[in-house]
Amino acid sequence: MNTHRVLSGIRATGRLHLGNYLGAVKGFLELQDNPTYQTLYMVADVHTLTTPYHIDELRKNRREVIIDYLAAGLDPKKSILFQQAEVNEHIELAFYFSSVTTIAKMQHLPTFKDKVKQYPEHATMALLNYPILMAADILVYKASLVPVGIDQEPHLEVAREIARRMNQDYGTDFPEPQRFATKGEYVPSLSGEGKMSKSVEGSFINLTDSLDEIRKKVRSVPTATVAGGEMTGGVKTLFTFLELCSPDQVASFKNEFEERTLKFVALKDAVTDAIYTMLKPLQEKRVKLVQDQAYIDNVICEGAEKARHIARKTVNEVKEKMGLE
Ligand code: TYM
Repeated sequence: MNTHRVLSGIRATGRLHLGNYLGAVKGFLELQDNPTYQTLYMVADVHTLTTPYHIDELRKNRREVIIDYLAAGLDPKKSILFQQAEVNEHIELAFYFSSVTTIAKMQHLPTFKDKVKQYPEHATMALLNYPILMAADILVYKASLVPVGIDQEPHLEVAREIARRMNQDYGTDFPEPQRFATKGEYVPSLSGEGKMSKSVEGSFINLTDSLDEIRKKVRSVPTATVAGGEMTGGVKTLFTFLELCSPDQVASFKNEFEERTLKFVALKDAVTDAIYTMLKPLQEKRVKLVQDQAYIDNVICEGAEKARHIARKTVNEVKEKMGLE
């Protein structure tokens, strides 16, 4: 039927980590199998320019993310998979949207303030425009559902405000996009404080990490000297991972924790196994995929063509309504 559209994306800042997978990609997968929706998933390579980056790494990563998508089970027969930079209409629409968005509003967003704190030398116009480009990514396809982690909610609120403004002022018919939440909408950092994040070294597990790497990282999660009582951040993190990757094991470990018989190393080993068991099939698929680069080229090329076709229609409508045609 395909009456509604879904759009989401991940920046090309490196290999995908467990937070991206559980908070976003799991939602992508669920929705691609729902016949009510037409699903579009992109690599947000243009968004990567909003913080300092290396040219060669971006060039590599904008392809690697597509490979990670395919390895995770996204299927070009069911979803349109593409690179944002290949569809100029996103940037064009973002400029039109910037005319209904105030500077003050953008400066007050917590995500903007955080990034300015992180990169005080790079408080650029591109960073200020980040949420406007994200609104354009979604609304250029008139998508009504966006599978993203909870950290993206302020950006979705901006997209809804822009949609309302455009509809009021210019008579467009943009939907007000809503977040599609997964169970892993907030994956904690391995440090036990804050969320798992690509920009925080030591906080993440990559989807391509080996069993040994995962074990080493999970073993480094700070726990406590004895079990029982109030859980520390690190212990809560381990239980969150178990809940997300092997929920059947949670009850018995919780019991042991409360009875103060739990050995943290046993919990850590169970978490390691649960994560690796989940990731192993993705890793095996990835090894096969990279052997056929022509297939990947083809997915990228066809995805961009299909996305452009839908996006051009929206931009032409907007230009006409805004008096540019
Ligand atoms: P990015 O690359 O920062 O994050 C990509 C996705 O991963 C989710 N995520 C998490 N979810 C749960 N727990 C975590 N620790 C965690 N870390 C990351 C994010 O919520 C996100 O869903 N602005 C987007 C990229 C983007 C986009 C869009 C998304 C650009 N245009 C249009 C949707 C629609 C972002 O920050 O990506």
